[in-house]
Amino acid sequence: ESTTELDISAIEPGQAIKAVFRKQPVFVRNLTQKEMDEADAVPLSRLRDPETLEERTKEGHRNILVTMGVCTHLGCVPLGAGEGENRGEFGGYFCPCHGSSYDTAARIRKGPAPSNLVVPDYEFTSDTTILIG
Ligand code: FES
Repeated sequence: ESTTELDISAIEPGQAIKAVFRKQPVFVRNLTQKEMDEADAVPLSRLRDPETLEERTKEGHRNILVTMGVCTHLGCVPLGAGEGENRGEFGGYFCPCHGSSYDTAARIRKGPAPSNLVVPDYEFTSDTTILIG
């Protein structure tokens, strides 16, 4: 069994980091209030893979979005965490391989990817530490 423990205390609001979990990239993002509001404002009927921000985060920590950094199209690593500032037109992540755009809840909004960036199993082990896996 392999797990990854991450100290997330240094991630500023609006910032996303890239870490590694089971040899794959994982993104941890500290959402601003504006980014959470943007996610909340999207009707589920407009989403290809309908999920609320609540369903994609942990209770009491809705500002912390943890996802795999693996595009659900063909597995490229999207931009927007830890490198570059290209977050695409929906403000989340952008996959340069074939142009999939994800929103601030890392939900697919445009391009060929069929589904949202995957939220791995994880838990908060303190207010500033998460354990993935
Ligand atoms: Fe991301 Fe194709 S692998 S859009």
